Amino acid sequence: MQPLTAVQINEAAAYITGLTPLKPEIGLIMGSGLGVLGDHLEDAVVIPYESIPYFPVSTVEGHAGELLVGSLSGRPVVLMRGRFHMYEGYGPELTAFPVRVMKSLGAKALLVTNAAGGVNTSFEPGDLMVISDHLNLTGKNPLVGPNDDELGVRFPDMSEAYSKRLRAVAREIAVTQGLTLREGVYAGLLGPNYETPAEIRMLRTLGADAVGMSTVAEVLAARHTGLEVLGISCISNMAAGILDQPLSHAEVIETTERVKSQFLALVKAIIPRF
Ligand code: HPA
Repeated sequence: MQPLTAVQINEAAAYITGLTPLKPEIGLIMGSGLGVLGDHLEDAVVIPYESIPYFPVSTVEGHAGELLVGSLSGRPVVLMRGRFHMYEGYGPELTAFPVRVMKSLGAKALLVTNAAGGVNTSFEPGDLMVISDHLNLTGKNPLVGPNDDELGVRFPDMSEAYSKRLRAVAREIAVTQGLTLREGVYAGLLGPNYETPAEIRMLRTLGADAVGMSTVAEVLAARHTGLEVLGISCISNMAAGILDQPLSHAEVIETTERVKSQFLALVKAIIPRF
């Protein structure tokens, strides 16, 4: 496959711009079972990934594979219903490609969500966690290769990968909604298998509170290109070895389904504050 440079990014963005007069200010990436937010967009145009130049199709159950441009809580947004995981075989630059397209469309900020396993034993399935920071344990990075100085600098700073300001906004809104909002470090692994109990103990020692198979590549690309980032995890299950039961994608989907109204209310209230 050819490398995805500014030419491909702008071509994908131009295709999308041709389908809607809206100029999105915020990008949203919805994790497993959380794409329901897309149903709450007003005046949405729904664009299947396969119709967008250079977009691959997402292959995971619970991920629809469409890009929506519409209004949410009065703000123009571009929303990914379904994302590209590296465990599907996509390279990190492909995983990050839609984020760069969002930037090219005019987005200034990114809200990224995911389903994650709880590593912190004080968490419970169904908890929402604002991501304070991440550990990139995928062994991959979308910023590897020649740097496009138009997108960002060669050595981007990651001291505040997840915006302090937006994290404070999320906490403040959670209080007004009577919602317990956790905050913690997300460890991003390649997957696709769930971790072993030994790996989960290791992750806890390393300072992780939650573990998942997405988000880090997208956030690296977002920060590289100057987007302000807020990340929210839905703790869909306790990570391996914590409870005496096997992990399954069915449990992940069931839990996200159960907490989606809380999740929706939180996100809808945060959007105007971006
Ligand atoms: N591990 C990794 N990824 C996940 C998990 C988990 O326990 N739950 C949801 N995504």
